[in-house]
Amino acid sequence: MIVAFLGLGAIGTPMARHLAKPSLASKLRVWNRTAAKAAAFAAEHGVTHAPTPAAAARGADVVITCFPVSRDVEALLDGADGLLESMARGSVLVDCTSGDPATSRRIAARLAERGIGFIDAPVSGGVAGAEAGTLTVMVGGDAAVLERARPALESFGKKIVHCGPVGAGDAVKAVNNALLAVHILATAEGLAALKKAGVDPALGLDVINASSGRSNASMNLFPERVLSRAFPRTFRLALLDKDAGIAAQVTREQAVPSPLLDLTSELLKEAHRALGEEADHVEAVRWVEARAGAEIRS
Ligand SMILES: NC(=O)c1ccc[n+]([C@@H]2O[C@H](COP(=O)([O-])OP(=O)(O)OC[C@H]3O[C@@H](n4cnc5c(N)ncnc54)[C@H](OP(=O)(O)O)[C@@H]3O)[C@@H](O)[C@H]2O)c1
Repeated sequence: MIVAFLGLGAIGTPMARHLAKPSLASKLRVWNRTAAKAAAFAAEHGVTHAPTPAAAARGADVVITCFPVSRDVEALLDGADGLLESMARGSVLVDCTSGDPATSRRIAARLAERGIGFIDAPVSGGVAGAEAGTLTVMVGGDAAVLERARPALESFGKKIVHCGPVGAGDAVKAVNNALLAVHILATAEGLAALKKAGVDPALGLDVINASSGRSNASMNLFPERVLSRAFPRTFRLALLDKDAGIAAQVTREQAVPSPLLDLTSELLKEAHRALGEEADHVEAVRWVEARAGAEIRS
């Protein structure tokens, strides 16, 4: 199987590393907008560095994209050097971007006119899950198209779930990440208040984590990244802001009143504006702390 991987970002790079393993019966080509990153990856792993997306895609059975937003994928479709011209009939575009369902449906329809398959296949599990090859992959699209791409997905994914038609994977991912955002913001607000009330945040977290208010944020993110003040940069706040916006759009499209998710999206936009493009998602806590006038540390 020939696989092309486009987009060697924070999560794309460790995903592509699994596809580069010699044990896998696949030949890998990589392309990245900043060419130096793809050149370094190709040299390190002995795979092909493609100079353009079309050069990577031509003759490939599976083309995987992992960009910030669906529009970045859509922008690569057209032109003499676009994916529509370069991908072969019968091949599959697997979009691992945490995308938006409407754009994914548009992309799928255009590829289908050329006999090219499409699945939206966003992932969860973070950079650590990508490194370990234990990502969850949420797939939208035809089951038969998923089967054609499955060997590539299995290289980095442990749990591969067919969620429904094109866009369903994007929708599940967006709702998941909106819940992550709710938990980060709400936990920060609560712990900042406890700190001001004279309770050690570490003690407060310890109690919450043995009680019913716990979440992945309280159990893992706050102890490892907030109390320690480490705030490693693994997943940009800008991308979580985008995901919360997609979730709010999904609830609007389905006419579901969603005041909590709408407010979460607004708050993340404010935090993103205040902290900039490179801030990590957990740094939204710093924004809550600044407004509260309290730091969540012992
Ligand atoms: N990081 C995580 O933990 C995580 C977890 C789950 C899902 N995701 C999702 O996975 C996707 C990628 O996230 P990431 O963290 O890897 O992002 P990232 O570190 O910001 O990397 C983005 C990648 O896309 C490329 N890119 C950006 N804009 C582009 C454009 N217009 N055309 C072509 N390439 C473009 C970048 O190229 P350059 O190198 O040239 O900048 C880079 O390779 C996002 O949708 C994100 O929400 C991320």
